[in-house]
Amino acid sequence: MAKIKNKSPVLFFYNNSKKWLAKISKNESFHTHIGILKHADAIGKEYGSRLITNKDKYVYLLEPTMYDYAMKIQHGTQIVYPKDIGYIITRAGIGDGQKILEIGTGSGSLTSFVASVVKPRGHVYTFDVDEKFMQIAEKNIKKAGVSKYVTQHNLDLKTAKKIHLEDMDVALIDLGDPWVVIPQVRQMLKGSGCIFAICPTMNQLEKLTMALVENEFTDIESTEHIIRNIEAREGKTRHSFQGIGHTTYLCFARKAFFGRTAKSTETAKTTTIKPVKKAVKTTKTVKKTKTVKKSTKKSA
Ligand SMILES: C[S@@+](CC[C@H](N)C(=O)[O-])C[C@H]1O[C@@H](n2cnc3c(N)ncnc32)[C@H](O)[C@@H]1O
Repeated sequence: MAKIKNKSPVLFFYNNSKKWLAKISKNESFHTHIGILKHADAIGKEYGSRLITNKDKYVYLLEPTMYDYAMKIQHGTQIVYPKDIGYIITRAGIGDGQKILEIGTGSGSLTSFVASVVKPRGHVYTFDVDEKFMQIAEKNIKKAGVSKYVTQHNLDLKTAKKIHLEDMDVALIDLGDPWVVIPQVRQMLKGSGCIFAICPTMNQLEKLTMALVENEFTDIESTEHIIRNIEAREGKTRHSFQGIGHTTYLCFARKAFFGRTAKSTETAKTTTIKPVKKAVKTTKTVKKTKTVKKSTKKSA
């Protein structure tokens, strides 16, 4: 039986729109419209039990899942939602032991989910150009308890000359112009390795698909994933009026060898869309250098 202790993570659940994620701290309490919730009252209780507030409302003490962390994440940027992450993980066959390349860490929502799936033997190598977002992501990744399986790099892949990553199983791209990094990503992926790009608009899908074909990718597929909530009640079950509208489209593809020329594969570059030329930034990791070195060595 899993009992709640001081420092245990707990989702205080009142209903779907009123829930609070917290790490138990015995002297803390918080005030809500349904009354006061004292952390100390949760200590010693089994996950799943309930508390009664001073306004006589029941609040359930649930063990948080990755979904709860993702939905409560601090948003520095637009994030990838669980509805899309589920498809990304299954379509790309992401699992324990895999090496994942991610471009555009953002708030670290996708990073945390994927790290929780590739652990304990796999690793996520994630890149972002913006240090402010990297710090937000670092906190979110830590909250989700997967820091050990993530290495953050402050680097612009569009301009980086050498990146010591190879044989990546999957590459995840979430930036405005994903087609620009396709040649670089191709070099880091293993043969038949998967790409997923997060594209909020159809114009991005078009440009990206052109670059994927140009760079010898196959099994190209663009999809949209929509969740419809149902309000199930006796005698009056119907679609909910609430729900998320459009979030993004997803573009999937796999690295292939078209055999256009004898050495076509690794030297292939998109001719139509060239990488933007900017000053090359030096790699800087948010994590401790020791950890970064260790994981990079392991994977190379
Ligand atoms: C929409 S956010 C990513 C959100 C993330 N997938 C999540 O679930 O939290 C896009 C991120 O890409 C980063 N970015 C933009 N251009 C980049 C580049 N050339 N290299 C690396 N990161 C870049 C931005 O700084 C931003 O943090």
